[in-house]
Amino acid sequence: MAKDKTLYVCDYCGQESVKWVGKCPSCGRWNSMKEFRTLSNSPSRGRTHSLVFSQGNGECPSPLNQIVADSEPRIDMGDEELNRVLGGGLVPGSLVLLGGEPGIGKSTLILQTVLRLTDKKVLYVSGEESARQIKLRADRLGTHPQPLPVKEGSEESGLLILTETSLEHIYTQIEETQPDLVVIDSIQTIQTETVESSPGSLSQIRECAASLLKYAKGGGVSIILIGHITKEGTLAGPKVLEHIVDAVLQFEGDQHYMYRILRSIKNRFGSTSELGIYEMKHDGLRQVSNPSELLLTDDREGLSGIAIACAIEGARPFMIETQALVSTAAYGTAQRSTTGYESRRLNMLLAVLEKRVGFKLATKDVFLNIAGGLRVTDPALDLAVIAAVLSSNGDMPIETDVCVTGEVGLSGEIRPVSRIEQRIAEAQKLGFQRILIPSFNLKGINPKQYKIEIVPVRRVAEAVRELFG
Ligand code: TYD
Ligand code: MG
Repeated sequence: MAKDKTLYVCDYCGQESVKWVGKCPSCGRWNSMKEFRTLSNSPSRGRTHSLVFSQGNGECPSPLNQIVADSEPRIDMGDEELNRVLGGGLVPGSLVLLGGEPGIGKSTLILQTVLRLTDKKVLYVSGEESARQIKLRADRLGTHPQPLPVKEGSEESGLLILTETSLEHIYTQIEETQPDLVVIDSIQTIQTETVESSPGSLSQIRECAASLLKYAKGGGVSIILIGHITKEGTLAGPKVLEHIVDAVLQFEGDQHYMYRILRSIKNRFGSTSELGIYEMKHDGLRQVSNPSELLLTDDREGLSGIAIACAIEGARPFMIETQALVSTAAYGTAQRSTTGYESRRLNMLLAVLEKRVGFKLATKDVFLNIAGGLRVTDPALDLAVIAAVLSSNGDMPIETDVCVTGEVGLSGEIRPVSRIEQRIAEAQKLGFQRILIPSFNLKGINPKQYKIEIVPVRRVAEAVRELFG
């Protein structure tokens, strides 16, 4: 017999406990443990989110070779960037979480996408905005070439708007309207009767998401959840949701920049290295299919402190403008500040410059900025960072038709980077005349097949000579 089980879950960090405690043993907050009843109809496994996967009909194991797995049909979202990040479209019956800071454009992205899905019935549940607000926004987005969807033979639009926060009522409406796709904006506003805590609390979010997952798996309807990211940058507090859903997409960007980046953080049906780029316009988000051209400043001629890197984020290469400003520290201690780049990595590179190449930067302020509000994690950017810093330090501009790619090691060696052919091809496509690459990467390629001049470098000092003579 299934037994209801009571757990206590910390609202801040997700720590579980079978007994109530006043102070969370994990994050140390007081009074944060909330009662959490599991839906449980399942064996004695401790964690609730593993319980939800059991469908409860006592299935027997089947030999792998007898399981029929047709290639997953995918719903074409009518948006190349989104399709790619999802791994080729949305899988029917999947639960996808789209996370991002408030105001970044999550509702806009999803609304403009569902407006395009003319052949699908979509139920858009909003707990945040009124139906009128959504209509106004849809009209604003309606200036796009895509017409508002109207199902054939009916006057009705294929998009239904529901302003509701009770999960139970939402289920009733889903049963009634039988949509192909349900959007929930946002998971933080939805509330279920099975848990006694306020909407947005961890136990509510977790219970609602788990219940929705079960529903999606059972009924074949796809569900997109929109979730706000907390100040700390995690999705809805702890990682609870990430365990539950099939895919987690993160929408990020700086409020002050127009670019928005859609990343896949987790995907049960595709790769997590994919990346989509959008530009926020007055009439919605525009897909950016050639990001490099947008990210480069046109007029770099004669400016010092700028180096162009060929980095790979996701599956695509980008030409990224790296800007540095090195100036004498006004106060005793030198400042180091970075935007879009890890500051520890900058410190490491500055130490390499000091120790291996002999540049004294200890008394200098160093500011580093990745243009366009991009956040780059590809280590191949290292060489560009070093080049930009030296360029600014000596006030020596780098020629505008030169770009660099390479990871820098602690001994000042230039380490090989992945997918060099793609990087060279991108640089060539954008009209660069020379590219500095790690010597080691020469092995796999034939430099003669490219028009662009390929300059292999083994050490930072060598790269410095190549760039600044
Ligand atoms: P929104 O989608 O509401 O963000 P989220 O759902 O992530 O909280 O987008 C909010 C911002 O986007 C808002 O500040 C206005 C801006 N925006 C545009 O610039 N152009 C548009 O066409 C739309 C609809 C919004
Ligand atoms: Mg919103």
